[in-house]
Amino acid sequence: MIFFTVMIVLVSGKYLFPEQIRLAWTENEGEMRASWVTYLPTYTRIAYRPILCSDIPQPSAWLYVEGDRKAFNEGQTVEVIQYIHTGVITGLRTECYYEYQVGDGLFWSETYLFSGRTPDYSPPYDYSKVELVVLGDWGTGPNGQYTRHLISQHGKIRNFDAVLHIGDFAYDLHDENGAVGDEWLRIVEPISANYAYMTLPGNHEGHNNFTHYKERFTMPYNEANNGTSLFYSFDMGPAHFIMMDTEVYFDNSDASNLTQLNWLLQDLDQANHNRNTRPWLIVLSHHPLYCSVNWRIPLLKGNGDCGEDALMLQQKLEEVFYQNGVDLYVQAHVHNYERDGAIYKNQTVNSEFDGTNIHVGPKAPIYITNGNAGNYEGHNDPTSPTPQDWAQYWSNDYGYGRLTVFNNTHLYYEQYSAIEVDQIDYVWIVKTQNRYN
Ligand SMILES: *[C@@H]1O[C@H](CO)[C@@H](O)[C@H](O)[C@H]1NC(C)=O
Ligand SMILES: *[C@@H]1O[C@H](CO)[C@@H](O)[C@H](O)[C@H]1NC(C)=O
Ligand SMILES: *[C@@H]1O[C@H](CO)[C@@H](O)[C@H](O)[C@H]1NC(C)=O
Ligand SMILES: *[C@@H]1O[C@H](CO)[C@@H](O)[C@H](O)[C@H]1NC(C)=O
Ligand SMILES: *[C@@H]1O[C@H](CO)[C@@H](O)[C@H](O)[C@H]1NC(C)=O
Repeated sequence: MIFFTVMIVLVSGKYLFPEQIRLAWTENEGEMRASWVTYLPTYTRIAYRPILCSDIPQPSAWLYVEGDRKAFNEGQTVEVIQYIHTGVITGLRTECYYEYQVGDGLFWSETYLFSGRTPDYSPPYDYSKVELVVLGDWGTGPNGQYTRHLISQHGKIRNFDAVLHIGDFAYDLHDENGAVGDEWLRIVEPISANYAYMTLPGNHEGHNNFTHYKERFTMPYNEANNGTSLFYSFDMGPAHFIMMDTEVYFDNSDASNLTQLNWLLQDLDQANHNRNTRPWLIVLSHHPLYCSVNWRIPLLKGNGDCGEDALMLQQKLEEVFYQNGVDLYVQAHVHNYERDGAIYKNQTVNSEFDGTNIHVGPKAPIYITNGNAGNYEGHNDPTSPTPQDWAQYWSNDYGYGRLTVFNNTHLYYEQYSAIEVDQIDYVWIVKTQNRYN
């Protein structure tokens, strides 16, 4: 029997052991979804237990949940079946941490850890500080390793709540019959298995109607997204966060632009009704509305991202953001970091007070580009030699951002350079009003 088990482990262990483990919040509070991959159709089980809660005697017994498994043919030219497992742990408590393993009951992963704090939708509300890692355009190559190393180190201190990855994964999830996507998901596992890893799609996910994105990630459900994970929102602390899909505006055959727009307008309307209790309204997506890499400069002529594409998105979305009093729009796609001031109709809008690293009472949305986690193309979108006059700070360093919503009045955004291994920029946004008109 021992011999038999050893043989199974040796022969098929690599197909049975869970890999590519990632966590995500769901549409309900107090829940964490764990997803992982095996290459044989094994059972789907999660073992977990609360730790560090003062009123639960330690160590507490392991608890088990069962989940679901689906077969996904990730191959583009040949059939490559992987089994994507997902299970949801419910009844989490904000003040606890949870350790967990995933597996089939025999072949378990290592033990990972996550915080029991999730978005919340029913009283008593938790309005305490929220701190999120924000990044975009992250691939498997050496460029992305700097950022991974830095976030893994920071992640050990557990001083952030979740990661928001705003489009462009792996370069690309479907490449080499899915092997590139698999490799990237293994690379980020130290982060994605320990923190809710929340995603939205970028242009690199477009292949075959976003199949790899939609199959590999499971984000909060709403009636409009119908389980596609393309757009959703959540409430956390003093803020409402909207994760939306700008790719719909780049494919003229895609009528889902209207599905999302209707949802967005309704979501913003509801967020504005809750504005007394959650005053911050933050939108994130892949494509920029404002950035400075200038497509008119011959050197960068091929780059329409901050030119015609940005102008098109301004037409579609700027008025929606402005009329609804969106405080901050975080974008990626362009491979650099650029922090802009408050902008409306391509003009800087003065706040009640503007300093080098502070805006008190902005009168229009603020835009930040953060698309330099490290893609395989390297520094192909260097910052413009002639940034627009609303640009406040820019850098080509690989790295990531951190968004901290302290309370009803103070929001802090900072950028970390994986090259400097340090913070390179920050800004305070101090709120004195919720709407601009
Ligand atoms: C692409 O996927 C979306 C959402 O899953 C769906 O609404 C749309 O009909 C699909 N488009 C095509 C061309 O299949
Ligand atoms: C919603 O998703 C389900 C399951 O994928 C699908 O069968 C159904 O057609 C979708 N509904 C709409 C309105 O797209
Ligand atoms: C949405 O897509 C349709 C094509 O399906 C296009 O005719 C329409 O102009 C788009 N609407 C917006 C608001 O982008
Ligand atoms: C936007 O304003 C900048 C000045 O900051 C100017 O250089 C640029 O041409 C303007 N873009 C458009 C499309 O008007
Ligand atoms: C909000 O947070 C900022 C930054 O920590 C702090 O300076 C300010 O006093 C806080 N305001 C309130 C009302 O707690």
